[in-house]
Amino acid sequence: MGTMAERRRNSLPFLLLSAIVHFAAAATATANSGFFGPFNVSYDHRALIIDGKRRMLNSAGIHYPRATPEMWPDLIAKSKEGGADVIQTYVFWSGHEPVRGQYYFEGSYDIVKFVKLVGSSGMYLHLRIGPYVCAEWNFGGFPVWLRDIPGIEFRTDNVLFKDEMERFVRRIVDLMREEMLFSWQGGPIIMLQVENEYGNIESSYGQRGKNYVKWAARMAIELGARVPWVMCQQNDAPETIINACNGYYCDGFKPNSHGKPTLWTEDWDGWYASWGGRLPHRPAEDLAFAVARFFERGGSFQNYYMYFGGTNFGRTSGGPFYVTSYDYDAPLDEYGLLSQPKWGHLKDLHAAIKLCEVALVASDSAQYLKLGPKQEAHVYQGNNHIEGHNLTRYIGQGVCSAFLANIDEHRSATVHFLGQAYILPPWSVSILPDCRNVVFNTAKVAAQTSIKSTANELPLNFIVSGEKIKKSSGTSYFGKSWMWSQEPIGVWSPTNFTVEGILEHLNVTKDLSDYLWHFTRIYVSEDDIAFWKEKDMRPTVSIDSIRDVLRVFVNGQSAGSTYGHWVKAVQPVDLLQGYNDLVLLSQTVGLQNYGAFFEKDGAGFRGKVKLTGFKDGDIDLAKSSWTYQVGLRGEFLKIYTTEDNEKAEWTYLTQDNVPSTFSWYKTYFDSPDGTDPVAIDLGSMGKGQAWVNGHHIGRYWTLVAPKGGCQPTCDYRGPYNSAKCRTNCGKPTQTRYHIPRSWLQGSDNLLVVFEETGGNPFDISIKLHFSEIICGLVSESHYPPVQKWSLPDSVGGRISINDMTPEMHLQCEDGYVIASIEFASYGTPAGGCQNFRKSSCHAPNSSLVVTKACQGRNSCSVRISNAEFDGDPCRGIVKTLAVQAKCISSSEHLSAL
Ligand code: GAL
Repeated sequence: MGTMAERRRNSLPFLLLSAIVHFAAAATATANSGFFGPFNVSYDHRALIIDGKRRMLNSAGIHYPRATPEMWPDLIAKSKEGGADVIQTYVFWSGHEPVRGQYYFEGSYDIVKFVKLVGSSGMYLHLRIGPYVCAEWNFGGFPVWLRDIPGIEFRTDNVLFKDEMERFVRRIVDLMREEMLFSWQGGPIIMLQVENEYGNIESSYGQRGKNYVKWAARMAIELGARVPWVMCQQNDAPETIINACNGYYCDGFKPNSHGKPTLWTEDWDGWYASWGGRLPHRPAEDLAFAVARFFERGGSFQNYYMYFGGTNFGRTSGGPFYVTSYDYDAPLDEYGLLSQPKWGHLKDLHAAIKLCEVALVASDSAQYLKLGPKQEAHVYQGNNHIEGHNLTRYIGQGVCSAFLANIDEHRSATVHFLGQAYILPPWSVSILPDCRNVVFNTAKVAAQTSIKSTANELPLNFIVSGEKIKKSSGTSYFGKSWMWSQEPIGVWSPTNFTVEGILEHLNVTKDLSDYLWHFTRIYVSEDDIAFWKEKDMRPTVSIDSIRDVLRVFVNGQSAGSTYGHWVKAVQPVDLLQGYNDLVLLSQTVGLQNYGAFFEKDGAGFRGKVKLTGFKDGDIDLAKSSWTYQVGLRGEFLKIYTTEDNEKAEWTYLTQDNVPSTFSWYKTYFDSPDGTDPVAIDLGSMGKGQAWVNGHHIGRYWTLVAPKGGCQPTCDYRGPYNSAKCRTNCGKPTQTRYHIPRSWLQGSDNLLVVFEETGGNPFDISIKLHFSEIICGLVSESHYPPVQKWSLPDSVGGRISINDMTPEMHLQCEDGYVIASIEFASYGTPAGGCQNFRKSSCHAPNSSLVVTKACQGRNSCSVRISNAEFDGDPCRGIVKTLAVQAKCISSSEHLSAL
């Protein structure tokens, strides 16, 4: 293999480059796991080359531990149905090696099972080993014990770190190889990743950072996985590694060497949320625009981060302050239901890109045509020699696909392309798989909208002796009484220890718990009391900097709390004459997962820790003797498990006697019937953690988002950022928490809630999550369903379709049918889903037509044409069909008949 310079001198076409960077299957590759025949993966400057063919690939990001193994098959199937070719996941080191040297690959961490499921669905897999992953995951995916290795420095040229990193990456590669999961073994893995966005922070590490990048690349390649490796956000990635792009848009991105394809490892299709934050949404039109622009401008692999975000179960959420839900506004919502119209619009987009694949891979680069001030076309033509020639001559002589873009944020534009006029909505791309017919425009959404509802809002204390409550949805359950147990404030076990001074939080807890109690005694003299009276003041606990939460207790009573990310804490307290018990409770809410040197961030307190306002001056608490206690008693006794919950003393709760802080509550509930995803509504509670049958469903915190900063409507046009289309202002960021169905049994499910600040467990309820209202809005100016076009024949490049009529497609979730059509108007209806209105142009039989086609069905299609509605309700005007339908479960529908 020659150097890059030598290769350039050879200046042969891309075929040679692809031969140089190939990862040929060894002749020795024997058996395979049977998903595919063994195949090679290599690449050239244009694309990944899979089994000898360049491919245009769409990938769905799904992190296996953010779901349960029982959910995986459905998530993978929905990704495939949505048009993804690849599933992408990180590997979560902290989950796989919770204790150094002790590996765990079971349950939600059964990565082998996950990869095999991907393979058996006929999809490929991109495995991002990292092992630093960021991902809003606790400590960025690093096991917390890593920071305890003396002398270790993360993500730099540090031999201790490199040894640990290499050991884990090797372990994963070996595991995948043993399980025959690489492409050349017939498995689904086509690509790997080492590190993650190191380029963003590399400069902080100087020369050692550069050395580390080179080392990581060499280490990865030498593991002999024989599929390509990527580094994302790594402009100085060595020649052996493909540097890839992450972002909301990556269409301007070019890899750092001509021999590498343009890959987009993270297409941020939404964003994560923080406690007390608003909920970000990325509009489907803009997302489709970004993806279309990427393929238009030479991209060949694009991954949705996330396609399914899921849930940060347990204490896996990263920080600062990331919520338990990792919904991400992804095409599949936190519960695995389709998020519409996003999922459907992208499905159409993927189908359109697939129609172009033959032409896209046949060309080494696009022909660029300027069509207007902010309008342009990129044309991909099988014949490589179009440059400098009249394009029209070549149409029909080989495959040809084109993208027409209008990057004007405000205005539509009419453009002329190869002798035809095309109208392009603002901020949109039209896709022409045959350089003639538009099959898709990113701003024209034909996919339905679904509105999620929650049903079965029975509080858990709803006791009816002997009889279950029948709800309208046909589901039934009842809860039993609530019981309560007190968590002690401060020291609770002989595991406590006493030292002088303030210890770093994580050094003590090892992150086995969020909670670290600090206990000391303060002597207050008569003179101090007199001094405070005279000055009308209170002494104050003052800490220069804390994260994430500090609670102060004096003589067993709460004095107050502070939360934030390294903020100053100033807490006035009431002290009595004589000895006072002072307890400082430091809490983490997800460890830091991003930034240079983040392992040095630690937690707890920084700087001076003082009691101010005493007559003789401040008391330096860093010189006091402190007794430390890690965690909660209930946590360590595991009173949230069915086996051990009796280790606590439980008493019955009554409505008028709910204890407020530091309380454990438990009850039992029956599982709701059916298969709808289940959530628990903890909106009546304050802050804490919850478990169901011993499974930790996550932290909860009913922190309210600011009142302002949400947009009443979301305009898809123009560059997206995470502040652009937010909802949920003035409301708690999260109140509903997912309980995976597989964690439930029919009846007597143990629910245990640990509450820190006070709340009312009697208002906790179990809710079902489903799409109740679905809406469609399709007009005559929409394109016919993309799926109706035939694949282009590779000789003539022609695509065909029999019927150019646009259609509205409506579908309820599996197990649901359309019960009623709540609104239908063919004409010029106004408004949007949930507030459609008829206008003067309205076909009187609209409702009848739609009801006939849809009622009682899981899915239906209605053609958008006058013929369908017995004539034209208003001549010369573009007609639109608007429909709002209600889905109910099939069983409920049957029993209503
Ligand atoms: C990227 C990172 C991902 C994730 C994302 C934000 O920078 O690579 O792991 O953290 O940001 O969701």
